[in-house]
Amino acid sequence: MEPKDRLIFPLDVSSREAALDWIERLQGQVGLFKVGLELFVAEGLPFLNTIAEILPGGYFLDLKFNDIPATLKAAQHRLFKNVTFFTVHCDQGRQMLRETVAALQNGVKFLAVTVLTSLSSDDLLALGYDRRYALNPTELVLLRARFAQAAGCRGVICSGQEVKAVKERFGPDFLAICPGIRPDWSVVAADDQKRVVTPYEAIQAGADYIVVGRPIRRAANPVEAAKRVVEEIERACP
Ligand code: C5P
Repeated sequence: MEPKDRLIFPLDVSSREAALDWIERLQGQVGLFKVGLELFVAEGLPFLNTIAEILPGGYFLDLKFNDIPATLKAAQHRLFKNVTFFTVHCDQGRQMLRETVAALQNGVKFLAVTVLTSLSSDDLLALGYDRRYALNPTELVLLRARFAQAAGCRGVICSGQEVKAVKERFGPDFLAICPGIRPDWSVVAADDQKRVVTPYEAIQAGADYIVVGRPIRRAANPVEAAKRVVEEIERACP
């Protein structure tokens, strides 16, 4: 993999035009584009077909499925044209993960969302998690990653603060994708991400891919910002 292949850019915009514009600006600078809830809700299935056509190398569909197994199995069938990665939450338990992944089609790689990078220890405590997990989110990430691996997921989404432990426990082939990336030079106003690290730190700790959105999208020069992130990845590459 080249350094830029490890950079995932989220198309967190609410129109087809804006998404296509970002693809045109950043194609060649990033490895993979990600379609999330905002764009999917705005433009729906027809737009996924467009994306599948203009990105023949595949794209990341990040809908973070979270429901009962029967609903998830039924809902995923029409989504997967040219999808490389697809996300499902871990917190509905092992059966849900197993059944959803077992219904997988077209070689899509399932990634399990362990603990959102926007959650801090205080948030986990407030949600009622046991102190053992709330005060040490890495423990919760490792517990859920074990379910994900047993269910047949190809990897997990976790923060850069947990990636080293995930790689040590589950081995190099179990993918770790890290959002919550904040380069030293980025300033994201009213930031919701809490368990953050820099691109360098995430890659050095073993992340296979990093998701970098607002630090690039809101930069004065997004192409230059993407290049700076890739340089940092290159410096950190083992
Ligand atoms: O870099 P920025 O915070 O803008 O990136 C946000 C993107 O990362 C969003 O598309 C969000 O859905 C995604 N994401 C996340 N935390 C996770 C999983 C994905 O922020 N645990």
